[in-house]
Amino acid sequence: MKQTLVLKVNPSKPSIKKIQVAAGIIRKGGLVAFPTETVYGLGADALNPDAVLALFKAKNRPLDNPPIVHIENINTVYELTEYVPPKAVLLMKQFWPGPLTLIFHRSKRVPDVTVAGLETVAIRMPQHAVALALIRASGCAIAAPSANLAGKPSPTSAKHVLADLDGRIDMVLDGGSTRIGVESTVLDLSLDPPIVLRPGGTPVEALRKVLGDVQLHPFVVAEKEVLVEKARSPGMRYRHYAPNAKVILVEGQLQAVIAKIKELIGSYRREGVKVGVLATDETIANYEADVVKSLGSRFNLTAIAQNLFRLLREFDYEGVDVVIAEGVPIEGLGLAVMNRLRKASGYNILKVV
Ligand code: TXA
Ligand code: MG
Repeated sequence: MKQTLVLKVNPSKPSIKKIQVAAGIIRKGGLVAFPTETVYGLGADALNPDAVLALFKAKNRPLDNPPIVHIENINTVYELTEYVPPKAVLLMKQFWPGPLTLIFHRSKRVPDVTVAGLETVAIRMPQHAVALALIRASGCAIAAPSANLAGKPSPTSAKHVLADLDGRIDMVLDGGSTRIGVESTVLDLSLDPPIVLRPGGTPVEALRKVLGDVQLHPFVVAEKEVLVEKARSPGMRYRHYAPNAKVILVEGQLQAVIAKIKELIGSYRREGVKVGVLATDETIANYEADVVKSLGSRFNLTAIAQNLFRLLREFDYEGVDVVIAEGVPIEGLGLAVMNRLRKASGYNILKVV
């Protein structure tokens, strides 16, 4: 066990002194969790193989699932990659800093462990003053997966980071709750048309406005387990975002969804099972279960994305056995939300009409 230092920082104007402490830890090969606009990341010097290995260990992350490398200056992309395609230049201009991760052909400077032995590297520039200041002060690119134990919902506050990683990492910069709440969109530009490997904070609709045709990897919209080829998208193979409770996702026409969920609540409660419901503002009054929570309004997918991971964790704190979740519209951030909910359920999906 290590002592994990927690420092509160102003999310828009972090104290240089505190950032310097964190940067000192990164430079020495240590692990620092920090806020980004999407979720908290667990950072290590991306070019220090020992530090990156420690990062995998702290998270219990399988070694074949590479982290995202975070930068604060576009010039760094040219140092870490072999080739920057024109479409990437366009996207970097339009979407960075922001919740978009691009896959590039890597340069040999990037250690094997950082890319899990792949020939490509995932890079993004986060839109958060704390993250950018930390990268700048550290003087290196920072490899940062989400700061949760592998398989758990990503952390949207320092409290979530500590729930998983207290005593396993050197430091947490606590900059409050994150703004977007789901991770960045991961886009592979090596194919034409480009392919979204993970839907996230940058809506696919926004990418299509700039690039024209953009495809979704079958896994992005999967409603059941899909076998994926190894190299394309390592993270896809693992169960993710799962609370301890069993999750059931009910999708379809709204009135039918409500009726189905009420029926499920009834049968679980007759068996003495503690039931949680993940509802929305428009539907919450319909449910009487042990714990009922609202993601937000069905007309505000931004709010729903922001609340998702926090609520999944809260069901665990409440000790429910089953969480029954409503599907939300698959548009804008709703695509990322539904992708996470389907994975969290282990594809335990009920379709109703
Ligand atoms: O918003 C985010 O992206 C957050 C914050 C901290 O920046 N980070 C994050 O990292 O979600 P992580 O490690 O939890 O997810 C990285 C995803 C995984 O699905 C991984 O498989 C994929 O990016 N990835 C990383 N390198 C890749 C590569 N070379 N090719 C394809 N996918 C890659
Ligand atoms: Mg993650």
